[in-house]
Amino acid sequence: MIQGSTDSIENVLEIEHLSLALPSKKGMIPILHDVNLKVGEGKIMGLVGESGSGKSMTAFAVTRLLPGGGKAELDGSIRLCGRQLLGLGRKSMEEVRGRDVSMIFQEPMTCLNPVFTIGTQMTDVIRTHEKISKEEACKKAVSLLEEVHIRNAEDVIHCYPYELSGGMRQRVMIAIALSCKPKLLIADEPTTALDVTVQAQILYLIKEACRNLKTAVLFISHDLGVISEICDSISVMYSGHIVESGDTASVLTEPCHPYTRALIGALPKFTGEKTKERLTAIPGMVPDPSEKMAGCRFAPRCERATAACREGLPPSLEIRPGHKVYCCHPREV
Ligand SMILES: Nc1ncnc2c1ncn2[C@@H]1O[C@H](COP(=O)(O)OP(=O)(O)OP(=O)(O)O)[C@@H](O)[C@H]1O
Ligand code: SF4
Ligand SMILES: [Mg+2]
Repeated sequence: MIQGSTDSIENVLEIEHLSLALPSKKGMIPILHDVNLKVGEGKIMGLVGESGSGKSMTAFAVTRLLPGGGKAELDGSIRLCGRQLLGLGRKSMEEVRGRDVSMIFQEPMTCLNPVFTIGTQMTDVIRTHEKISKEEACKKAVSLLEEVHIRNAEDVIHCYPYELSGGMRQRVMIAIALSCKPKLLIADEPTTALDVTVQAQILYLIKEACRNLKTAVLFISHDLGVISEICDSISVMYSGHIVESGDTASVLTEPCHPYTRALIGALPKFTGEKTKERLTAIPGMVPDPSEKMAGCRFAPRCERATAACREGLPPSLEIRPGHKVYCCHPREV
């Protein structure tokens, strides 16, 4: 990182030409294709796409928590603060997961153990990172809960997960995820199960933590509205391919890929006035990864598709510095 520069940011996560295939009865199925993305220190990168587009698999490739009983095939490069993760053994990856990368999910109960109190679970995690006594770990757990704006933290540590609301459980998960001050936080649909008010609070919390700890955040959501509220940059994913990426403002104001434009068209616009404008649903479905296609995988759903789109992979085009689109006929800016 160039010291003193405001726009030069060290890439905490740098994924290049990543491909992933998972085993199935029919053989290996390609899930991710030539994925490239970067997240800078203290920055939030949004990975957006419909269900089944490969967002979670990208996250699981980074943390190497892939299905397939060790038979998943990864190729390309995943660098964390310059260190190549592909090729690291199981033990080293466990260390990376415990120390450098944390994850939060849509449903905190998948990570919280229902039979232990919040305090027990938090102190266990804290003591795996730091050689401190139970009492000190307990004090730290309380202060971590206070940092995520949980009131009565001293009482909450004695609660079981089921005694807390969904929003509070997600705050607890964030507190646990940040307890090791990770370099990278992966948030996979962290607000999808929450109502809009609590969702806004959780988004604010993630943003605050990212700013204070300079943590890089890979924020995964199918909801472009949520992504636009919190992210500095966006990568749009479709059927295992990144189809457009760039600064949030650039991608949202000048989307060039037909899929990004369709996602934006599907967003409700709240103007405060009654409107006759209808939401445009995207016709069709994300293709199954096992379905072989020669060219652009969006072609069956794309109004701009031509024969050229079905022949080979779409070319990449740099709309402006940092804003890329992969399409044969992108909208001209
Ligand atoms: N265990 C598995 N074995 C084989 N294929 C899988 C497995 N899990 C997921 N997939 C496939 O990988 C593709 C990408 O799935 P992924 O879970 O990454 O999607 P996603 O974008 O996170 O969707 P969602 O928004 O629903 O969470 C999907 O087509 C899915 O069917
Ligand atoms: S490459 Fe062709 S089919 Fe694919 S998104 Fe672009 S215009 Fe549509
Ligand atoms: Mg997912």
